[in-house]
Amino acid sequence: MKIGFVQFDPAFGEVEKNLSSAASLIEGVEADLLVLPELFNTGYLFTSKQEAIDLSEEVPDGRTVKALTAVAKEKGVHIVAGLAEWDDGRIHNSAVLVSPRGHVGTYRKIHLFYEEKLWFDPGDLEPEVFDIGSCRVGVMVCFDWFFPETARVLALKGADIICHSANLVLPYCQDAMITRCLENRVFAVTCNRTGSERRGGKTLMYTGQSQIVDPRGQVLYRAERETDEVHVADVDVTAARDKQLNEHNNLFGDRRSQFYSALVQKF
Ligand code: ACM
Repeated sequence: MKIGFVQFDPAFGEVEKNLSSAASLIEGVEADLLVLPELFNTGYLFTSKQEAIDLSEEVPDGRTVKALTAVAKEKGVHIVAGLAEWDDGRIHNSAVLVSPRGHVGTYRKIHLFYEEKLWFDPGDLEPEVFDIGSCRVGVMVCFDWFFPETARVLALKGADIICHSANLVLPYCQDAMITRCLENRVFAVTCNRTGSERRGGKTLMYTGQSQIVDPRGQVLYRAERETDEVHVADVDVTAARDKQLNEHNNLFGDRRSQFYSALVQKF
């Protein structure tokens, strides 16, 4: 199965332009599953709640899910992509999964980073795993990587591939995701964006280096920091289903959950 990412530099607030940049980048690509960055259609660096409200969209009825569905249909691909979701007065930093037949599911970021807490409501849904036939897809968004529980929950729920839409500004995530894959025996596609946003006042520089990692923790491909790039790797997803580490150790069977109660206590 061919899985990959679409690394590019979305322009803040220019939804039509970003939708068409993503569509052009995907145009010549052959893939089964592609991941786009967090908030790929709007840009990331909001400066007010009103901006987030104005740029948010209903899922699945908004223009971004419709545009993604058109691309998915034309290319016969599944797409995971981040957007600001409007849900009856609540705004979520979400990622949608879209198939050639339309919207499949939505993940709402549960660990909001820094000022996102001012613009977004924290995710209110359990991370879900979506069976798309060729594989089982788990979705997480950027800073979720810092909470290993997110990837673990997705793996325990049967994810073969974690689709990780991101807007990273720090250098730690890519290496951490190697461990997330190793400790959960899953694939991960981290799609980061490039470029910088909103010069003058606040500025953020994004670190690119989108990557695809396999269940043995091998980086199958890592992109450059600054270039727009689509990359697809051919993988055997069944490698994620073998949780037997050796003849004595099973990744999930050896968990001692009776000793993990602190993990589910409210701090
Ligand atoms: C992030 O969660 N966008 C750093």
